[in-house]
Amino acid sequence: MTFERENVRRMAGYVPGEQPRRAVAKLNTNENPFPPCDAVLATLAGIDGEMLRRYPDPTAWGFRTAAARLHGLTPDHIVATNGGDELLRLALTTFLPPGAPLGLAEPSYSLYPVLAAVHDSPLCPVPLADDWSVPADIARQWNRAGARLAILVNPHAPSGRLTAAQELAEVARTFKGVLVIDVQNRLWSGTEA
Ligand SMILES: Cc1ncc(COP(=O)(O)O)c(C=O)c1O
Repeated sequence: MTFERENVRRMAGYVPGEQPRRAVAKLNTNENPFPPCDAVLATLAGIDGEMLRRYPDPTAWGFRTAAARLHGLTPDHIVATNGGDELLRLALTTFLPPGAPLGLAEPSYSLYPVLAAVHDSPLCPVPLADDWSVPADIARQWNRAGARLAILVNPHAPSGRLTAAQELAEVARTFKGVLVIDVQNRLWSGTEA
């Protein structure tokens, strides 16, 4: 007898990217090639053990206020999570009714189908063009499939191709659900495209 949900039982375990022990230029898991700057390391080294006895502020108010100030937003615009993966999972939980398709470009970040499988939602994957560009009718294809949430990664993983902000805005205007733009690296901001 098993107790797992049927959709979880069908899933296979995660196979992590290769983690070589030798000193190599490791590019396979999107890690930062550089260590944190000295100011970050000094702040980490200065953490008072007393601070770690308690849960942190549950609303992450200090962080959200500082991040909002940096980006010209309000704290209500900022969600604090343990990495981007947790935010993606929250997006599915919040916006995608189980059973409704998740709109994707194909290929893209391998976690998206995993989150959809956990959520018990099918996929609506739209193949990218040969030059990795986003097809002009991608939002209409998602709409036809009944997708309520769609995710585009930009710059694209795995190709690194950057889609212009105007193109993404057009997709967002046409798509009838919530469009998440998973911005992979902070060298890019919407105003630069
Ligand atoms: C496209 C994309 N989104 C989100 C993530 C998650 O990043 P993290 O949880 O480390 O912030 C990754 C990590 O590889 C990624 O490639």
